[in-house]
Amino acid sequence: MKILLLGKNGQVGWELQRSLAPLGEVIALDRHSQDLCGDLSQLQDLAATVQAVRPNLIVNAAAHTAVDKAESEPELARTLNALAPGVLAQEAHKLGAWLVHYSTDYVFDGSGSQPWLETDIPAPLSVYGQTKLEGEQLIAAHCSRHLIFRTSWVYAARGGNFAKTMLRLAQERERLTVIDDQWGAPTGAELLADVTAHAIRQAMEQPQDAGLYHLAASGETTWNGYAKHVIAQAERVRPAIKIVANEVAPVPASAFPTPARRPQNSRLNTGKLQATFGLCLPPWQQGVDRMLAEIL
Ligand SMILES: NC(=O)c1ccc[n+]([C@@H]2O[C@H](COP(=O)([O-])OP(=O)(O)OC[C@H]3O[C@@H](n4cnc5c(N)ncnc54)[C@H](OP(=O)(O)O)[C@@H]3O)[C@@H](O)[C@H]2O)c1
Repeated sequence: MKILLLGKNGQVGWELQRSLAPLGEVIALDRHSQDLCGDLSQLQDLAATVQAVRPNLIVNAAAHTAVDKAESEPELARTLNALAPGVLAQEAHKLGAWLVHYSTDYVFDGSGSQPWLETDIPAPLSVYGQTKLEGEQLIAAHCSRHLIFRTSWVYAARGGNFAKTMLRLAQERERLTVIDDQWGAPTGAELLADVTAHAIRQAMEQPQDAGLYHLAASGETTWNGYAKHVIAQAERVRPAIKIVANEVAPVPASAFPTPARRPQNSRLNTGKLQATFGLCLPPWQQGVDRMLAEIL
């Protein structure tokens, strides 16, 4: 099998390079790739890349993920998050190939406290959420052989992340203030990549499993709960760490105004994914603890 991976150096893309390797030949690109175009802003060149590679599977881990910046560059965000996935879907359809793509809890307005189902009506609050939703719609319109995974609060050991920021601040300040009225589940890029590999194998055998799935670690927390867990776990894993923070104060999101509005309720119901693919999604703490063990 020939696999075209886009966004190979992002959090999820990096882990996909590992998890997709046993499935076949992986041609992994990023926006700086030379011979083949992996730049999602170059729609014609992107189509030409698919035509040249002729993959059986396209996995798109690239996106405009700078949620606040997207508010001031909506056209670029739309090109990367909506039009490019649409082009990939059209080209995949012409080849009879599969397309795997990632979307987000930000397609919802964050109301209520129930975990969102795939059948719930999206109502994005931000340009990022709007453009990601349009990307989902264009894929569904152009290529039936697709898997779209909506996920939330993604982290990875590689690069910067919320946990690393909290650990740094906890070593510098006695008091941290962290948002306590947004709910979700921190989800590791490793988990996303591993589930992707399982799911695509099954879907290629059973095309009726194509579609949209919510994919996040189990359980729920707030950013405040996440921060407290990270600090406590860091002290357990590395007792020598010098944490000076003695309070992680809860504050509402309104204490930190941002250009993009974010959903308060980012809980995702993952029952459809677990039932369809026979998978068990571990509690969010498991992946976070593993990441901490790696970075500390
Ligand atoms: N991060 C989250 O919390 C989160 C939550 C829900 C859903 N998701 C979705 O999950 C997927 C993977 O996200 P992630 O967390 O792995 O994001 P990420 O680490 O920000 O990776 C995104 C990648 O896209 C690349 N990219 C940006 N502009 C590009 C362009 N014009 N052409 C090609 N590549 C370009 C980036 O490259 P550069 O590094 O060169 O900019 C980066 O490698 C995305 O679809 C995202 O929307 C993420």
